[in-house]
Amino acid sequence: MTDPSPPGSKLDTTVAHPARRYNYWLGGKDNFAADRESGDQVAAAFPTVRIAARANREFLKRTVEFLVAEAGIRQFLDIGTGLPTADNIHEVAQRIDPRSRAVYVDNDPLVMSHARALLTSSPEGRTVYLERDIRDPGSILDAPELRDTLDLGQPVGLTLVAVLHFVRDHENPYGVVRRLVDALPSGSYLVLSHGTYDGLPAGVVERLEQANAASGGLSRTRSRAEVDRFFEGLELVEPGVVPVAEWRPAPGAEIPDPVDICMYGGVARVR
Ligand SMILES: C[S@@+](CC[C@H](N)C(=O)[O-])C[C@H]1O[C@@H](n2cnc3c(N)ncnc32)[C@H](O)[C@@H]1O
Repeated sequence: MTDPSPPGSKLDTTVAHPARRYNYWLGGKDNFAADRESGDQVAAAFPTVRIAARANREFLKRTVEFLVAEAGIRQFLDIGTGLPTADNIHEVAQRIDPRSRAVYVDNDPLVMSHARALLTSSPEGRTVYLERDIRDPGSILDAPELRDTLDLGQPVGLTLVAVLHFVRDHENPYGVVRRLVDALPSGSYLVLSHGTYDGLPAGVVERLEQANAASGGLSRTRSRAEVDRFFEGLELVEPGVVPVAEWRPAPGAEIPDPVDICMYGGVARVR
């Protein structure tokens, strides 16, 4: 992508943004110099970050397959979607049931400009894209486009994958998740993954925090206990909250060392 952004655009390409940095780590082209610089700083401290991004993406795919094939979920609310890539949620779900529906939400205007790729639904299903901020869950739940696409009387798969570590403590991350979950009927599911420093040597954490500070304190990783707390009151499905690569891995898959990935993930049913 050419720098800088077009005049009049809401895009600020001079600061790193999570969607574009993640796109850089996944080998995509939708990123700018500031994203690459921040991405390289993180990679210098944590050289397996690209493997981690892929492991997170594969976790998302396996959990969506589980929800459609085993839990009977046919509608998804995905917040913190990221730039379109291979195996977007509706593509994974519609391979199993073409009637599956998805509402995608992200706060990066660049995702909006690529949203066409998220709107390639099967004729039987439906997808919409909303530019909203997870920190304002009411604006997502009340959006007419969401209400036109999802039936909130029927179970929904709420996917918050690698997004909550961009919600800092003073921004009420637990309250945000509670508000979203409370809007869904019994039999819905929460899929969540979250970055952690658990298990990393102190020197690596220090360098990662320096990289984080250099990018304006983009992220707030959380410990195992802090990630568990997002699932309070819900019924975790086996194997519970685990390093993402250990969540129901494909048979024969090579499982990376958790400290090379540094992401927890879990799936839970709404009672
Ligand atoms: C690391 S990417 C994860 C993308 C995708 N969920 C996945 O796991 O492959 C994080 C995404 O969350 C989005 N994001 C960060 N803060 C957000 C916020 N406050 N509201 C909505 N989206 C946000 C970013 O724009 C980015 O697209």
